[in-house]
Amino acid sequence: MPNNTSKIITVLNILKNLNKIKFIKIVYNKVLFKVSQIFQKNSKKWAKEVSIGSTTELLNIIDKRYFKELKEEIKTLEQQIENILPKVPKILRLGSADCILLYFYIRKFRPKIILETGVSIGHSSSYILKGISKNSYGNLFSSDFKFLGVKNSEQYIGFLPKELNYHKNWNLLIDGDEYNIPRILKKLGSEKINLFHYDSDKSYRGKQKTLNLISNNTDNNTTYIFDDIQDDFFFYDFVKKNKFKYIVIQAEYRDKFVGIAGNFLEKFDNVC
Ligand SMILES: C[S@@+](CC[C@H](N)C(=O)[O-])C[C@H]1O[C@@H](n2cnc3c(N)ncnc32)[C@H](O)[C@@H]1O
Repeated sequence: MPNNTSKIITVLNILKNLNKIKFIKIVYNKVLFKVSQIFQKNSKKWAKEVSIGSTTELLNIIDKRYFKELKEEIKTLEQQIENILPKVPKILRLGSADCILLYFYIRKFRPKIILETGVSIGHSSSYILKGISKNSYGNLFSSDFKFLGVKNSEQYIGFLPKELNYHKNWNLLIDGDEYNIPRILKKLGSEKINLFHYDSDKSYRGKQKTLNLISNNTDNNTTYIFDDIQDDFFFYDFVKKNKFKYIVIQAEYRDKFVGIAGNFLEKFDNVC
């Protein structure tokens, strides 16, 4: 076979196989995506089935009068946040956690040590810090990671609490949960976490890693609030494995679910 012809055949073969590799990759990714969608559909179906209603419905059951009072208490904060938001690039104005739930929990149950993962511009952190300030009690430790693909994004992590001047006693680390959490735990020493709010890495593995990291700093009095539990079966596995009492609620006017777990729910047997 002349040399040139063999070269052409080799190139054609490579191209043919490249196409195959591309094809296999595409099919592989599509299958992975479909599988994850099936799981998400199932986990979302479960969350929907066990959900006891909206945040408002839950808080009205726990303490209707106090909830009404707190809604008044946060009106100024809501307005202040609305006024600050135009200073934040649109791309960073992502959805927030169930802030009213966090605020209510903090005001009513007065946790001392609060750890949250996932800060973003700081909706949840603002409500938590305001609750701590109103209680004159408690400490917030927060973990986040710079926004990928956004220049100078660090300056916007926790932007709202900083603008609101709520950040004086705030411990915020921004190197990722894997690095931040051990540093936070070192600061805590043997102190236990009273409220843990998870809203960072949405992968099952990420949640598992963080929960493993904090396990020595949790006890029977730790309350766990997980945002977006419909994404996978992590929350389901977590509460079943630990035999925790739990509640699932649907975030107000949103197609997402929040999981609450912990022994404090024993007081509310009527809703669990
Ligand atoms: C949904 S946002 C948090 C929203 C926030 N709780 C609020 O209410 O405004 C998720 C945040 O988690 C952060 N994140 C994602 N993976 C992370 C990781 N491995 N470690 C720490 N933070 C992470 C993202 O940078 C993002 O800021």
